Amino acid sequence: MSKIKRVGILTGGGDCPGLNAVIRAVAKSLITHHHIEVIGIEDGFEGLIENRTRPLHYDNVSGILQVGGTILGTSNTANPFHHPVVQNGKTVYVDCSDLVIAHMQDLGMEALVCIGGDGTMTMAKQLIEKGVRVIGVPKTIDNDLYGTDITFGYDTAMSIAAEAIDRIHTTAQSHHRVMLIEVMGRYAGWLTLGAGIAGGADVILIPEIEYDLEAICAAVKKREDMGRKFSIIAVAEGAKPKGGELTVSRIVEGSPDKYRLGGVAVKLGNDIQDRTGVETRATILGHLQRGGTPTPNDRVLSTRYGVGAADLIGAGQFNRMVALQGNSIVSVPIAEIGGKTRTVPMDCELLHVAVQVGTSLGVDKI
Ligand code: F6P
Repeated sequence: MSKIKRVGILTGGGDCPGLNAVIRAVAKSLITHHHIEVIGIEDGFEGLIENRTRPLHYDNVSGILQVGGTILGTSNTANPFHHPVVQNGKTVYVDCSDLVIAHMQDLGMEALVCIGGDGTMTMAKQLIEKGVRVIGVPKTIDNDLYGTDITFGYDTAMSIAAEAIDRIHTTAQSHHRVMLIEVMGRYAGWLTLGAGIAGGADVILIPEIEYDLEAICAAVKKREDMGRKFSIIAVAEGAKPKGGELTVSRIVEGSPDKYRLGGVAVKLGNDIQDRTGVETRATILGHLQRGGTPTPNDRVLSTRYGVGAADLIGAGQFNRMVALQGNSIVSVPIAEIGGKTRTVPMDCELLHVAVQVGTSLGVDKI
């Protein structure tokens, strides 16, 4: 039996379908089966820095399984080790991790459940080094977190992007156009690859394979020669041309990764139209992919992760992130994951599958 009496829980980084399902599973399981109190921290690490918390009772986490976003709020800039303060009219960044630890001690929080992606796990790792007991839960629609096969949120975002591709087909076909759909995912192509295969995209462009405009135009032309006067291109926001640059839409200072990607579909669409003469249009899916209710698969995975996190706490095992490996819930040391990104490897079976069904990956050969 664990000696822990009270834990804190926070959601960090971008919102993601399934966050509430994890909060619910962690809290219900801890309260009912481990007799541990749960304190919700508002707006991620910002709430720990500013001491904004509220107790989470059983009733507070009922009825949220299918609700999108996070009932706790989140922040993608708050960082206890790099916190902006204004001194003499200038913004300087300070380490306020001791303050965070003091707030935790005042509240009697003996451990912290951090639900987040790479940025959150990196901060979790730094807190562990200062003696805080942490449990991680892997969240991100990008599916790029090291140590787990699947992050929660990925399935929902993939379903939304695949449905968008399905809907775009109608216009592509009716107007004989090349339609580009830009999918999120940062520097990893998992989301575009999954949605592209599910939606039957004719061309799939991912960050891991720098594209060649000639090869893309050749794929469009080949389809025309086969009597198919339209093409659908699923392009990752992090895709870039051979030897070229990423398309950055904005810079968010203070964020673990300050670059926000976006707009490559518009640029590429113009290039394709100039080169082939075929009319093109680009749709950037953006935050639609993160919104709304999680899919049943994500609800199940989030619940498994939440219960897995509570089980680790109950067993007194800390500083680990729950993970899915194969079909089993396991846990991995947070020290081994923070700061690493899991991108699509060139021997990924999904790439082979795409090629075998005639999809172009934007190059002559990978
Ligand atoms: O990491 C999740 C994600 O949605 C990425 O796919 C995307 O690049 C980024 O976050 C967008 O961040 P923001 O919500 O700050 O615009």
